[in-house]
Amino acid sequence: MYIDSHAHLNYPDVVKNIGEVLQRAEDAGVEAIIVPATTYRTSLDIVELVQKHKMLYGAVGIHPTELKDFEVSHLEGIESLAAIDKICAIGEIGLDYYWEPYDSELQIRILREQFRIAKRCGLPVIIHNRNSTNDLMELVRSEYDGGLLKGQFHSFSAGQEEANECIKMGFYISFTGNITYKPNDSTRIAYGIVEQTPAEHLLLETDTPYLPPMPYRGKQNEPSYVNHTAAKIAELKGITPEELGRITSENARSLYGI
Ligand code: NI
Repeated sequence: MYIDSHAHLNYPDVVKNIGEVLQRAEDAGVEAIIVPATTYRTSLDIVELVQKHKMLYGAVGIHPTELKDFEVSHLEGIESLAAIDKICAIGEIGLDYYWEPYDSELQIRILREQFRIAKRCGLPVIIHNRNSTNDLMELVRSEYDGGLLKGQFHSFSAGQEEANECIKMGFYISFTGNITYKPNDSTRIAYGIVEQTPAEHLLLETDTPYLPPMPYRGKQNEPSYVNHTAAKIAELKGITPEELGRITSENARSLYGI
C-alpha cells in the first residue's frame, strides 16, 4: 500500500541486512522502494542491487555534495545507465549550500547537465535542496521546457510559495520522518504545505538511513517506518493512511513508470 520513494538502501550499514530490511518493509505494507544514487560509482552498485530484488527500483545520478571525484565521463556513464530496466529516474541530484566549502557554479553546471540527461531519456528527476532554494528554482524554471522536466522535490525544505510553484509545474513533493517531530518552526511550515498540497502531488519517503520518524528518532531509519510518516501526513490531510497510501502509490507509479 505504500511506496517509499527515497531510501539509500545501498549504504553499507543498510545493505548488509538487506534481506531483513526488505522483509520488514513488506510486512509493513511497502510494495516498492526507489533507491537513489549519489555518485557514478553508487549508480553502478544500484543497477546491480535492483536487479536482485523485485520490489526495488533505482535512480542514477550525482549528488551535489559528492563532486570531489567528479569526472566529465561520469555524466556519459549516468546517461547510459539510465536506459537500463528498473532505472526509473535521474537522482539524487540538486544543490547543497549547507556543507562547506561548496562550489555553487560547479553544482549548478552539473545539475543542469543532469536535468538535460533526464529530458533526453524521458525520465523524472529526484531533487535535493539544502539552503539553495533561489538558485534551484531559477534553474528548474530555465530547464522546465514546458513540462519536459518532471520529478520530485524530496525532503521538501522550501516555503509555501515555492511549493505552490512546484505543484503548478506538475512536480511532486515529499517529506521525511522529521514531519513527525515535536512541532517547531520548520515542522509548522511543513504542516501548512502538506495541508495546501493536493494529495495528487504528494509522495511518501523515508530517506533511509536518515531522519527516522517518531518513535524511532536517533535510530537508523528503514522503509518499514514509512507508515509513521504516512500516519502524520494523512492526519494533516484529514484522510486515512490507507487512502493516502493508495493515492501516493498511484502518484509514484505514474511519475516513475513503475
Ligand atoms: Ni537522499
